[in-house]
Amino acid sequence: MTSPLIYQNGVVGFTVRLLAIARQRDAAIQETSIDSVAGLAGSVRVPGDKSISHRSIMLGAIAEGDTHISGFLEGADALATLAAFEAMGVPIDQLGDGKLIVKGRGLHGLQAPVESLYVGNSGTSMRLLAGLLAGQSFSSTLTGDVSLTGRPMNRVALPLREMGAEIVTAPEGRPPLEIAGKAALHGIDYVLPIASAQVKSCLLLAGLYASGRTTVTEPAPTRDHTERMLQGFGYVVERNGPTASVLGGGKLTATAIDIPADISSAAFFLVAGSITPNSEITLQHVGINPTRTGVIDILKLMGADITLTKLRDVGGEPVADLVVRSAQLHGIDIPPALVPLAIDEFPAIFIAAACATGRTVLTGAEELRVKESDRIQAMVDGLLALGVDVRGTDDGAIIEGGPIGAGLDNASINCHHDHRIAMAFAIASAQAQCDIEIQDCDNIVTSFPNFVELACQLGLSLELA
Ligand code: S3P
Repeated sequence: MTSPLIYQNGVVGFTVRLLAIARQRDAAIQETSIDSVAGLAGSVRVPGDKSISHRSIMLGAIAEGDTHISGFLEGADALATLAAFEAMGVPIDQLGDGKLIVKGRGLHGLQAPVESLYVGNSGTSMRLLAGLLAGQSFSSTLTGDVSLTGRPMNRVALPLREMGAEIVTAPEGRPPLEIAGKAALHGIDYVLPIASAQVKSCLLLAGLYASGRTTVTEPAPTRDHTERMLQGFGYVVERNGPTASVLGGGKLTATAIDIPADISSAAFFLVAGSITPNSEITLQHVGINPTRTGVIDILKLMGADITLTKLRDVGGEPVADLVVRSAQLHGIDIPPALVPLAIDEFPAIFIAAACATGRTVLTGAEELRVKESDRIQAMVDGLLALGVDVRGTDDGAIIEGGPIGAGLDNASINCHHDHRIAMAFAIASAQAQCDIEIQDCDNIVTSFPNFVELACQLGLSLELA
């Protein structure tokens, strides 16, 4: 299987090209009856949730005692967080197979890192760490790769300064972030101008070190893993509708964390299973926190056949097995209220929309322009290369469903080193009439190191070129 190659080489910057072989070309040429086309089939567990993996290291590191973690995502982003805490003197035993023991140093036990903390491609590491580092007695600098260095950090720097932090950014609030130690933080009441779990979490983490109460109010619900996990570590978080608050100066007590499979990774197979005729896929042990399930709601509105089974609670996070069967999807106006609840899944949803009948309209999603790439532009450009009728707008896109890659032998896609753009176009091959060559896929390792292996296991034909 090919994915270990991506994993080993991706992290050292090897440029990987992925060839996704058209599944529908022969069917299109020979006008084969749809019933005779083999579907995708199987039952897989995708890797651990990226957001929860980051937080398990961060909170484990500042807790008292040993935190035992299972299901950890051994992908580049979460490993960047892990490395940052090792650099701050936190012993972390990596037992393999997603099992870790974080030997917590307590709220004030981190040590000054000798060098800058490099967090690669990971916006979550940088924004959450900014809050945590603002409360330390030592100074630190956060840096990242080219993509991260272009991403906006004023959204955390401005409210942290209001709390008393001293932070210097590059022009226009870009990384690196230089964070001065020994700042006396004080709690604030902050109304988030944008729906962002990263900003909310950053401020709650700074609030642990602040005098008084830090209160964050969000304009729309965003993922609440920080609030849930703080409570799991015995730290009181007051939650009242759109508001969450913490009182500084408490303590976290080590715990055990079982991380569910990442719904953001499962989303690629929810779409692949939906758009490939005669398919049935089971995705095991997927986190279905209601602040993350927008993709299921959107796909169901489009006509997808997705069933949740074996619903259970795992350490404060709801989990289920998801069963997806092929369905004829139809275009919809995506309700803007679902956008923050599916914010990472739009690359996959764009592919679903391109394979649906009729028009899909996405609005209220301007945040997609400041993710690992400008995801609206990257998806529009890629779909245009595949002959899809699509138009980007300031805050979304208008996608007309139709054939993918009709009349082409192959199409070359620039994924802008964005893991989710690469994986989205890889699953587009399920409905494509041409091969799809995706350039520079090395960053798939950031969230889904064994993507190629699992996709091939389910019946897609992906090759590393
Ligand atoms: C994340 C929050 C989201 C998401 C990102 C992970 C998190 O970002 O896009 O991949 O773990 O808190 P925003 O909160 O900035 O929307």
